Amino acid sequence: MSSLDLEARTSPNILEMGYDKRMMVVSGRASRDLGAKIAAKLGVGLTDAGLKTFTDGEVYCRYAESIRGADVFIINSIVGNEPEGVNVNDALMELLVMIDAAVGASAHRVIAVTPWYGYSRQDKKSAPREPITARLVAKMLETAGIDRLVAMDLHAGQMQGFFSKTLDHMTAMPILSQYVKDQLGPTEDLVIISPDAGRVKLTSKFAQKVGAPYAVLEKERPAQQVAEIGYVIGEVAGKRAVIVDDIIDTGGTLAAAAQTVLDEGAKEVYAVATHGIFSGRAYETLAASPLSGILVTDTVPLRAGAPDMIRQLTCADILADTVRSIFTDTSVSEIFAGENQLF
Ligand code: R5P
Repeated sequence: MSSLDLEARTSPNILEMGYDKRMMVVSGRASRDLGAKIAAKLGVGLTDAGLKTFTDGEVYCRYAESIRGADVFIINSIVGNEPEGVNVNDALMELLVMIDAAVGASAHRVIAVTPWYGYSRQDKKSAPREPITARLVAKMLETAGIDRLVAMDLHAGQMQGFFSKTLDHMTAMPILSQYVKDQLGPTEDLVIISPDAGRVKLTSKFAQKVGAPYAVLEKERPAQQVAEIGYVIGEVAGKRAVIVDDIIDTGGTLAAAAQTVLDEGAKEVYAVATHGIFSGRAYETLAASPLSGILVTDTVPLRAGAPDMIRQLTCADILADTVRSIFTDTSVSEIFAGENQLF
């Protein structure tokens, strides 16, 4: 038979070939615990990415086993993790080298899972001569070779436009709003608070889920990483207030917001956010604030020394469901009954 003799060639039925798609889950050093939880929920082991940092600070990886033909899910938030000795830039570089190594090792698809997308607050020019670093990170991830990206509660949903590859935008808001409802119900005297105008859409959806009204704070940033709250739009007097944000970083926004809400007559103030970065003196700032409790998820590893007022929920179930859906080519939005686009 010549190679052009198509009639004579037998073509095996793909279903009879016993071809098994392979899933591999790896985690970077910024997301070791979360990666292990996701892998356990999927019933697979974590593949060792052989990560190390050389004495000059360069990061390195080498997969311990063949990943040829596998769908490789690389879980790493772009954030520092002190016990692992990585800072935010190490985490980003580590993610990039893991993607490059997976592409070079002939993975079938490479999917970056960055529950917390570091640099996401630098998503536009707010002053002349500034970079748009969130877009730069997107370009770097695509240049390294991702086939798609999974992110969670992006600082701005419009960031999806920085990517030409598919981005699955997941949200922890359903688990956070359910927890608030369960722990703080009945909800008659609850009010959900948006700490600034940018969070109004998220807050109104959260309030709807909890079954409470919402109010909005007017926030100014006189300097980077400094927050000042002006006034409250809405009724908070005599109520238990829950401030909902995407990120807690230095804690400055929450401390100022909680004080303003109490000054306006609220009985108690709580805070909820997907990403608890708690950088710098955040723990001290928040412990000294009038907040009664703070709820975050594990998109970011909780730094040591957290005050008792901070509680962490896991988003491993949501992310494991997402990974499974991508792997099996089934609907990702069904995990949220289509509501992940609403936050
Ligand atoms: C700002 O737009 C964000 O939604 C957060 O409010 C902010 O990043 C929190 O930062 P910090 O805790 O440092 O005030």
